[in-house]
Amino acid sequence: MKVLLCGAFDAAEQAAWQTALQQAMPQAQWLDLPAAQAVPVDVVAAVVANPRRGSLQGLPALRLIQSLWAGVDRLLADTTLPVGVPIARMVDPAMNAAMTETALWAVLSLQRGFYAYARQQHAAQWLQHPQRRADALRVLILGQGQIGRAVAARLAQQGYAVSGWRRDGTPLPPLLAQADIVINLLPLTPQTRGLLDAAFFAALPRGASVVNLARGAHVDDDALLAALDHGHLQHAVLDVFHAEPLPPGHAFWQHPSVTVLPHVAAQTDPSSAAAVVAANLQALQDGGALQHLVDRQRAY
Ligand code: NAP
Ligand code: GLV
Repeated sequence: MKVLLCGAFDAAEQAAWQTALQQAMPQAQWLDLPAAQAVPVDVVAAVVANPRRGSLQGLPALRLIQSLWAGVDRLLADTTLPVGVPIARMVDPAMNAAMTETALWAVLSLQRGFYAYARQQHAAQWLQHPQRRADALRVLILGQGQIGRAVAARLAQQGYAVSGWRRDGTPLPPLLAQADIVINLLPLTPQTRGLLDAAFFAALPRGASVVNLARGAHVDDDALLAALDHGHLQHAVLDVFHAEPLPPGHAFWQHPSVTVLPHVAAQTDPSSAAAVVAANLQALQDGGALQHLVDRQRAY
């Protein structure tokens, strides 16, 4: 079985993925893009991480596109993707665990005022704030999928009052009105793009905070900055942005009420992810059921 590995990797990442995938599925012939350009017609599967637009064209034997990323918004934006070829996304317990760690760090830091204390240290300011209990903090999670459920379970275990928004449940505004912290874990789709806008922020109680670990395009940046500047929102923890890397002049970099992460809430771990990929390639070879398929109509 010939498998194409293609993505926006640097040389070290490419080597790490080649090694992990080779170990997980030694019987497959792993090709990187330059090598495969000579023999594309035999390729039956492509393992991809934000591949260049058009990379998957002209592969007549292709039967599976396996993403190394959980979110497939950028992949699906490539209008040249071959029609009818199943797309699987990354669902990996190690990724869920990393996302859970990031969410827990953000919520703990907001609960205990650690972002405020970090600001105060820069100003050599000794000032104690009232301590809040975990069970007094209401955390709303947008997206009850693989990651949202894992995050909700961990935060509930830590004692927070956790709720989740699902499409067929309570409408969003009443849930927002009851939230001290909102964590966004939605996929980016036409329905969710721009969801975190001025009306969304206005529906939150004064002093609430926002944690975005999903995609930058979920957020109206100007509306978020206005809500922070007016003191309606207390703090924003942002891992993802409209443009990445976040441009040097962007207001988020210097804003005292914004914590910026460089899209590291969870990085795909080559060894655990390679096992997930191998299981799907094995299913493809054996005629078994492919796992974690993307619904192109829903866009996630
Ligand atoms: P998932 O399993 O597909 O879960 C998505 C959840 O969102 C599902 O519960 C789904 O509802 C819900 N949803 C989708 N559209 C909705 C809508 N219009 N209204 C309400 N709910 C809606 O995805 P996941 O694996 O948890 O990953 C979530 C996202 O995290 C990814 O798409 C990616 O963008 C992001 N991510 C970020 C990082 C990072 O490092 N920052 C790492 C990994 C993932 P249904 O159950 O009804 O389908
Ligand atoms: C990271 O953002 C991912 O979608 O895996």
